[in-house]
Amino acid sequence: MCGIIGYIGDKPANQVIFEGLMRLEYRGYDSAGIAVLDQGKIVLAKDVGKLRNLRELLLTNFPSISSQGIGHTRWATHGRPSTFNAHPHGDCMATLMVAHNGIIENYMKLKHSLQSAGHIFKSETDSEVLAHLIESHYKGNIEDAVLKALAQVEGAYAIVVLHRDHSDRLVCARKESPLIVGLGKGENFIASDVTAIMQHTRRVVFIENLECAIVKRDRVDFFDLAGKPLERKSSLIDWNPIAAEKGGFSHFMLKEIYEQPQVIRNTIGGRTQEEDGKIFLTELGLTGPDIFRTQRIVMVACGTAYYAACVGKYLIEQLVRIPVECDLASEFRYRQPVVDRNTLVVAISQSGETADTLAAVREAKLRGAKVLGIVNAKESTLTREVDGLVYIHAGPEIGVASTKAYIAMLTAQVLLALLLGKIRGTLKPEFVQETIRELKILPQRIEQLLSNTAPIRALAEKFKDARHFLFLGRGINFPTAMEGALKLKEISYIHAEAYAAGEMKHGPIALIDKDLPVMAIATNQSVYDKLVSNIKEVQARSGTVIAVACESNCDIKNVADYVIAIPDCPEILTPILSVVPLQLFAYFVADLRGLDVDQPRNLAKSVTVE
Ligand code: G6P
Repeated sequence: MCGIIGYIGDKPANQVIFEGLMRLEYRGYDSAGIAVLDQGKIVLAKDVGKLRNLRELLLTNFPSISSQGIGHTRWATHGRPSTFNAHPHGDCMATLMVAHNGIIENYMKLKHSLQSAGHIFKSETDSEVLAHLIESHYKGNIEDAVLKALAQVEGAYAIVVLHRDHSDRLVCARKESPLIVGLGKGENFIASDVTAIMQHTRRVVFIENLECAIVKRDRVDFFDLAGKPLERKSSLIDWNPIAAEKGGFSHFMLKEIYEQPQVIRNTIGGRTQEEDGKIFLTELGLTGPDIFRTQRIVMVACGTAYYAACVGKYLIEQLVRIPVECDLASEFRYRQPVVDRNTLVVAISQSGETADTLAAVREAKLRGAKVLGIVNAKESTLTREVDGLVYIHAGPEIGVASTKAYIAMLTAQVLLALLLGKIRGTLKPEFVQETIRELKILPQRIEQLLSNTAPIRALAEKFKDARHFLFLGRGINFPTAMEGALKLKEISYIHAEAYAAGEMKHGPIALIDKDLPVMAIATNQSVYDKLVSNIKEVQARSGTVIAVACESNCDIKNVADYVIAIPDCPEILTPILSVVPLQLFAYFVADLRGLDVDQPRNLAKSVTVE
């Protein structure tokens, strides 16, 4: 995901910024750029692809002795990876440059009004509006212009601004997206991530939400977004560089679990308009006739992505009323699948490189089907082979056990189902508006869940020595049970099996005794009572039940042995919340068992062989 760095001091800025960007490489990016202020002129270098391209550009075309500048690595969201879309972005006359992380939700509206006022845009990004907005407010005071511009902006941002007329300062601000100031001697730094500046200083100030800073060579002043001065204390970072990449978390998996609220914001960012229920999936590649012609949808995927597809089946069938079949890509490719030009095949993949999923897509295309990809990795093979795309914008996922990509796949499918339902007329506008509203609150609900993980850790302590686990779920949360069981077996090596709760009496009930703990996902309101009956069936046979249930279902405490409560939300969104405690449970069990959480034995992050 995108990275930001800013520098002001007496070292060569090009070099400090370039090295900082290299330290952010692990986050993944598709283009990069640096802007420095050199003797009253802004010098800008941007390129697509790896940072070595930018290095060559800097060495040959842009040697500079400047000691003040900003840099950015971009992971494309709005607009494809290209030199024009790479940051930093300038205003009409390149008097100022902005690097931005996050998504400006109302950028289309702002862009249209700026264009009508004569501003000329050079990129397809949402970020460029920031440069023009600041330009439109600039009357000689750069921090004032930045604050006025930010007051008009909706969405998430971490920004750093360089202005031609202000060789003594950089201005930065944040809302939701992280940003820090690094304090040096006669030099100061701004970065989205401590890793970028750790070799220069370990003394940092974490800029709080809705705050900004004016960063000079020898002082830093902090303000709120109304311009009121603030006192901020610095902290000393004592992590090693690898730990810094983990942002202070002990494992990438845990960090990625905690990134999930932000990931949802990124997945829906700029794609919805709550007032009129509009959904924008600009790379969908399907025409109205394609959507009306679709008689059947077949979803293909592997691993966690397959369980995400299973949730998609419930979503699309319920909201769009088109029959959906889910198939493991490794099965689909060899079973002479029945698909034709009236079938839409949806391939879901985090990496976009999974061999079986790619083979399934090729098979579907040979048979005349249109193929839509729901993908995380930009420019991956899958993205080049499909007819249309819905990027999930989860950012690079490093832990082998997928967490944030799963949540993003579910969120992207909600958007897809809403859009298809709107086009095919199966959804009322009020329903779409209400669901958009609920989607936007989901990150807060997950934050609430993540703010107190101690009870889940305590349960993990209790059950860490179990040899087997049974996961039960119904309806749209049956796939949640499957994903929860997969997480547990992947990283803790405990045998875990998932069943549709209503099916338990047809076999697995024979296994129930005091040594087989059961995790029951009881978060769907529509079949809650049925699930409670299934829990009672387990208890009648001396089984121990941990129930994941919505807060409002307090009576579950009287039936289950242990309860993990999640915030209430509409049933179609419960899979996004219900899976979080299951990810944490698996994580804590594996950690308590002393296992290699991020790189479990025998597993690979991206399976590019059959
Ligand atoms: C591997 C990974 C899983 C992943 C699956 C599908 O098995 O270990 O975490 O779910 O591949 O990967 P994809 O990149 O296609 O989503």
